[in-house]
Amino acid sequence: MVETARSLTVAVNSHPVVRVLLGSRCSVSLIVWSLVGCILMIHFYSLIHQKDREKIHIGSSHLSVTRELEEVEEENLYFPPPRGKRSPHALKRRGPRKPPSVVDEFLDESSEVHALFFPHRKSAVNPNKKGNDSMYYYPGRLWLDTEGNPIQAHGGGILFDERTETYYWYGENKDGPTYQAHRKGAARVDIIGVSCYSSKDLWEWTNEGVVLSGEETNASHDLHVSNVLERPKVIYNDVSGRYVMWMHIDDANYTKASVGVAVSDSPTGPFTYLYSFRPHGFDSRDMTIFKDDDGKAYLIYSSEDNSELHVGPLTDDYLNVTSVMRRILVAQHREAPALFKYQGTYYMITSGCTGWAPNRALAHAAESIMGPWETMGNPCIGGNKIFRSTTFFAQSTFVVPLLGLPGSFIFMADRWNPSELRDSRYMWLPLTVGGMADEPLEYNFGFPLWSRVSIYWHRRWRLPEGWRTA
Ligand code: DGJ
Repeated sequence: MVETARSLTVAVNSHPVVRVLLGSRCSVSLIVWSLVGCILMIHFYSLIHQKDREKIHIGSSHLSVTRELEEVEEENLYFPPPRGKRSPHALKRRGPRKPPSVVDEFLDESSEVHALFFPHRKSAVNPNKKGNDSMYYYPGRLWLDTEGNPIQAHGGGILFDERTETYYWYGENKDGPTYQAHRKGAARVDIIGVSCYSSKDLWEWTNEGVVLSGEETNASHDLHVSNVLERPKVIYNDVSGRYVMWMHIDDANYTKASVGVAVSDSPTGPFTYLYSFRPHGFDSRDMTIFKDDDGKAYLIYSSEDNSELHVGPLTDDYLNVTSVMRRILVAQHREAPALFKYQGTYYMITSGCTGWAPNRALAHAAESIMGPWETMGNPCIGGNKIFRSTTFFAQSTFVVPLLGLPGSFIFMADRWNPSELRDSRYMWLPLTVGGMADEPLEYNFGFPLWSRVSIYWHRRWRLPEGWRTA
């Protein structure tokens, strides 16, 4: 710094205009040193400011109410040895078979490992059975609604409706037989529609019925049962006073790759289906929508054969996209985007692209929703290595902000069961923002720009008492 100041002094002194204006060597040095002082002050200010930001993060993430959410719990699951030894004959013919991975076993419905991850009804979370388990989330267990039926809201999202002060959970109703349309096709369930559940506490859910139904007769309709309707999300438009649903619309082979839009005057429907289209002229598969604090809403979708994501604002009525679009996370091959915002920064969780099979989640951050977005690493904490590398055997779908607990969110994911999709499970886990990111690339005066996003594994957890007003 001293060296730089010296050369700066020399450079400024030798400038003829400066010589004329200032006359003396002494006053030039004074100016240069004042400049250096200013730079140092800005630097220190930025350090202090950064420390403050960290203090806010650490403070909010270590509030006694949220401490329990952030406990790192290990998971020592016993995995039975892989089955399927080869006969000596087959051994000779084809050589030793690669033992199936834990993920292979997880996906194989006849394996004991599979049963571990899809415990049966006896252990279901049941809001009608009040007792010690009341208000506790058990990620991966069956979750019943207030009528005692398994909740059918896969690939879903949550809307907090300020008018009714109620949470609404929208998702795919997959309560039909799983089959393959073609020998090599993905496992599927015919379109039944979008289910809606309501709740005041995010734990006890009342079935509000199918708010957008599949079409049984008209084979050319987007919602014909033979097609695909995935990842429905609903936001409220303050200007039109209408609830707007966006979803992934496809054919059984996933070649239509479009978004669909539906509207309703009520959060519990019925929703009127409007149309489908390829946003900005591009293929669109996994998608989500995000409503910002200023009322502007955005569509984020996997495109170019899932190799990148696209983001663009919706029109003011939320019924279409505008012509503005940015490519983000290019060549990163991510899907299942779930967005949220904290202290002015945008965050997103995504998955890799492996069909119904689980893979590693990544967290991303951006100063502007339109990008650039930066990838920060795997947000999953606790469990064990294989849990963390498979997003706890699940895939992201949505992040719910907890308004009374700044910096705390619920991470919603689907544990898909491709052999019986209706039996796929919900993985709700606490997500917090705070502390140093693992792999930040962007620095601000030597400090990483982004805070860490952490998703904590818990076998059993609940929101802290009074989380709505904390
Ligand atoms: C992964 C996606 O995230 C799901 O929504 C679904 O489209 C499956 N692929 C189908 O294989």
